[in-house]
Amino acid sequence: MTAATAEKKIPVLTIDGPSGSGKGTIAARVADALGWHLLDSGALYRAVGYAASMAGLDLSDTEAVTRCAETTKITFRDPKDGGETRVYVNSHDATADIRTETCGAAASAIAAIPSVRTALFEKQRSFRKAPGLVADGRDMGTVIFPDAGTKVFLTASAEERAKRRYKQLKDKGLSVTLSSLLREIEARDVRDASRAVAPLKPAADAVLIDSTGMPIDEVVAKVLELVRS
Ligand code: C5P
Repeated sequence: MTAATAEKKIPVLTIDGPSGSGKGTIAARVADALGWHLLDSGALYRAVGYAASMAGLDLSDTEAVTRCAETTKITFRDPKDGGETRVYVNSHDATADIRTETCGAAASAIAAIPSVRTALFEKQRSFRKAPGLVADGRDMGTVIFPDAGTKVFLTASAEERAKRRYKQLKDKGLSVTLSSLLREIEARDVRDASRAVAPLKPAADAVLIDSTGMPIDEVVAKVLELVRS
């Protein structure tokens, strides 16, 4: 068996959807239940956005930002190795830094640059390791793992997503308003769905789950049922 054929045999579950749809939480819970690896692809884009901002780059300078995506060392501590996921950018623990709204907006801006997406392509594919991978993001089922065995597209209304985000940020002691979060979420949705390269859209073979008003446990159970069937 060639290495490429062996890799194709490793099962992948992709969970795509807009920001705040709960993909991150659901992906982590499902990966834990299955004992599979986890790829939070949004964290990669956030890490590049963070590195570019820290370097004082103009985010519309595609050449400089692409070089930054190619050279920034991004490493994750896999939750499979114990504890929670941590994200390191050039060896600095940037786990908290990359979660701010400013960093989310920077990630969204640099993610629209095709050469940045190319720079991160192989890195994302390298997460496919036995016994399996749960990958969450925007284009996991459409571009990165088109041959994934199970694909989920998770949505929730913009109001519900803004409320969830509001609660998360408040719990972390950050000062935000619900109306500004809703505006940012709607703006990011439009940008992510309308960009020319890898726009946010469900794969043709994805199962759509609308999690508005659905408890997390119920969504996790539904996704696990899809993987196991
Ligand atoms: O999922 P998260 O909100 O952390 O992603 C941050 C940004 O990174 C998104 O708004 C999106 O623009 C970008 N992204 C992407 N493709 C992915 C994951 C994230 O373009 N697979």
